[in-house]
Amino acid sequence: MHCLVDAPHVDHLHPDSGIALATAADGEKLTEECFGNRVVWVPWRRPGFQLGLDIAAIKEAHPQAIGCILGGHGITAWGESSEQAEANSLEIIRTAEEFLADRGSDEPFGAVVPGYEPLPELERRAKAAAIFPTIRGIASADRPQVGHFTDSDVVLEFLSRDKLVPLAELGTSCPDHFLRTKVKPLVVDLPATASVEEILARLPQLHEAYRADYQGYYDRNATADSPALRGADPAIVLVPGVGMFSFGANKQTARVAGEFYVNAINVMRGAESVSTYAPISEAEKFRIEYWALEEAKLARMPRPKPLATRIALVTGAGSGIGKAIAARVAAEGGCVVVADLNLDNAQQVADELGGPDVAVAVKVDVSDEAAVEQALATGVLAFGGVDLVVNNAGLSLSKPLLETTVKDWDLQHDVMAKGSFLVSREAAKVMIAQDLGGDIVYISSKNSVFAGPNNIAYSAVKADQAHQVRLLAAELGPHGIRVNGINPDGVVRGSGIFAGGWGAKRAETYGVKEEDLGAYYAKRTLLGKEVLPEHVADAVFALTGGDLSQTTGLHIPVDSGVAAAFLR
Ligand SMILES: NC(=O)c1ccc[n+]([C@@H]2O[C@H](COP(=O)([O-])OP(=O)(O)OC[C@H]3O[C@@H](n4cnc5c(N)ncnc54)[C@H](O)[C@@H]3O)[C@@H](O)[C@H]2O)c1
Repeated sequence: MHCLVDAPHVDHLHPDSGIALATAADGEKLTEECFGNRVVWVPWRRPGFQLGLDIAAIKEAHPQAIGCILGGHGITAWGESSEQAEANSLEIIRTAEEFLADRGSDEPFGAVVPGYEPLPELERRAKAAAIFPTIRGIASADRPQVGHFTDSDVVLEFLSRDKLVPLAELGTSCPDHFLRTKVKPLVVDLPATASVEEILARLPQLHEAYRADYQGYYDRNATADSPALRGADPAIVLVPGVGMFSFGANKQTARVAGEFYVNAINVMRGAESVSTYAPISEAEKFRIEYWALEEAKLARMPRPKPLATRIALVTGAGSGIGKAIAARVAAEGGCVVVADLNLDNAQQVADELGGPDVAVAVKVDVSDEAAVEQALATGVLAFGGVDLVVNNAGLSLSKPLLETTVKDWDLQHDVMAKGSFLVSREAAKVMIAQDLGGDIVYISSKNSVFAGPNNIAYSAVKADQAHQVRLLAAELGPHGIRVNGINPDGVVRGSGIFAGGWGAKRAETYGVKEEDLGAYYAKRTLLGKEVLPEHVADAVFALTGGDLSQTTGLHIPVDSGVAAAFLR
């Protein structure tokens, strides 16, 4: 189109107001009423060479025109300069917006249906978090997906109205939108007042019906040379009173799918306000969705990274070993919930990893049951669920038995034993609801097996964590959830535990400078090498990146070789 249309600059756009006219049943007439002869109607044609020729011919026949409305699709504007093409595009968009505002009816989506009004914010967020893992499992039946949640006014208003179901059924029209949103969403046909249990019971039935419907769409339209069916799960799930759940192969794609469905809602509202929404036909949608060129584009996509679509929650990820693990998971394509008692540190790590499309920060005290539930809910709302949990939060108060207070004992047991138990329990609930398996990794310690001196509380709690690994591996195996542990030792650099005064004391004990402590520990190992936080992160990746898929209940030492801590 850009080279066929006889103008130095040609802009092609998908603005809501333009597509509203393009998808109105009497769009041609409305275009004339809205623009006179300044903007011309081009009947629907699948994007490609012939559409370019059509637009070129129309421009030639209408020298006064600044652009056109492309039926069922979008707008094109032209100009002698880039600025002029842009100004013409904006004129089309704004004139259409004003026309819709002037002429549009008050309630284009019909009346509010009693019982379908938006729930209050806190209630709907809690409900969204409770149902999101199950919805993500449904959206991931063919291949794992990451999720995004939207409860903006535009979405909630659409979900509360009389025409929700028939309009959703008609599906999205703009090709560039429905390639991301799928041709139609899955609508939960229950009021906002339905309980979580009712929604969870209804979802599998709706999923089965959605898949059958999509298979029917494929079967009705596919020809002998059509590409194979690409997956029959919904990309958009609408839950009245709660909001919209959108899905994609990564967070950015999931978010953009949601943004495009918001565009679709705006388009339907605009079209219904002045006419009847009339998207392109099912057959045409199919021809675009399964177009050979689209297939070729998909085939050229780079291979996904090993942890793509996996959502990790790493506790104590604001510092040291946890921070290195979060960075490794993100580098391997995963999404990360950076959970830490210290929110500033967690936020800094999340920002460094690339912000909300990759990582979110959450403040949590892992020893607090309500805080752990809230942290999981925050992670679920951010990405749709959780697949990989690393119980890493911890602290060390090394003292001989006679100096160890009950407070010392309780603090370490609360954070590392109780904290890991709570995080594992809440994460397992989410993983079981998703039915996508999962990984739980415990950052235990060499001290879980090595009876070092002056360390009763810390070493005992590390042994507790190590046994949680075995117990949960046995219990969660039937759900496809693997539970493994890592036993690091002597990770000085980057560790807050060592920096917090403990390192200085150990250095004094051994008669070395604090900055040489890592090297000093290294000398005591079989390999003679210093252990860094990144080495522990490497072990987490080895356990979860796909190569050890049949392994559960294992502990990996990351200590450069400490014979006294060999596992047997
Ligand atoms: N550094 C080592 O040599 C070593 C060796 C073996 C095991 N480990 C274990 O590795 C883990 C990480 O240690 P590190 O050396 O990176 O320490 P670190 O101090 O750098 O990191 C620990 C993080 O846990 C967070 N945290 C503490 N209490 C918390 C709570 N109640 N809730 C949430 N977050 C909390 C801290 O804010 C901190 O960000 C710990 O479990 C530790 O026992 C460390």
